[in-house]
Amino acid sequence: MGLIRHKESSRLLRKILSEPDATGFYLILRAHNRPTANHSARTALLAIDLGIDARAPRHVLWQLGFAGLFHDGGKLYVPNEILNKFGPLTEEERKIVEEHPLRGYEYVVSLGKPDVAKMVVGHHEPTENYPRAYRGDNGWGELVTLADLADSMLKARSYKKAYEPKEAMQAIRQKYTSHPEFLALLEYRLSSQE
Ligand SMILES: [Fe+2]
Ligand SMILES: [Fe+2]
Repeated sequence: MGLIRHKESSRLLRKILSEPDATGFYLILRAHNRPTANHSARTALLAIDLGIDARAPRHVLWQLGFAGLFHDGGKLYVPNEILNKFGPLTEEERKIVEEHPLRGYEYVVSLGKPDVAKMVVGHHEPTENYPRAYRGDNGWGELVTLADLADSMLKARSYKKAYEPKEAMQAIRQKYTSHPEFLALLEYRLSSQE
């Protein structure tokens, strides 16, 4: 079994990507930092797929797809030298990176999608010490958090290696304790990835 279980997920993501707001944003993000754009597309796909398993209503699946795509949109404002940096960030660089959920929130609000924006702003809140400027969406939006975490763990980035599925699940369990029912959906996928 692959990480993505439903054919419907990629169909829906394609539809979302053909919406003018999403197309425009995605092209800009890809031009700025391709690994972030690829990560965002995979996060959107997994968030939708988890949403289908969790029986999210259709409009929520759309929101999950948009939120997955836009969740790191605030990284448009983070210079590439920081995004691609090897090794630890300085205090100042870390602060710039930590602003990305809030910057992404503002961007998505400006597109007139407040429900999606709430999913975006909270995507690091359950797991990391990010500033709590806003309380994010803690319902369906948690699926974006989990999809983001899973993709970040399973793929290598310039600053870290990829985890094996089992190691990734252990690390996610340590970081994420909010919604056991959503976590179980992810675990089901990762446990069959050996
Ligand atoms: Fe992020
Ligand atoms: Fe992310």
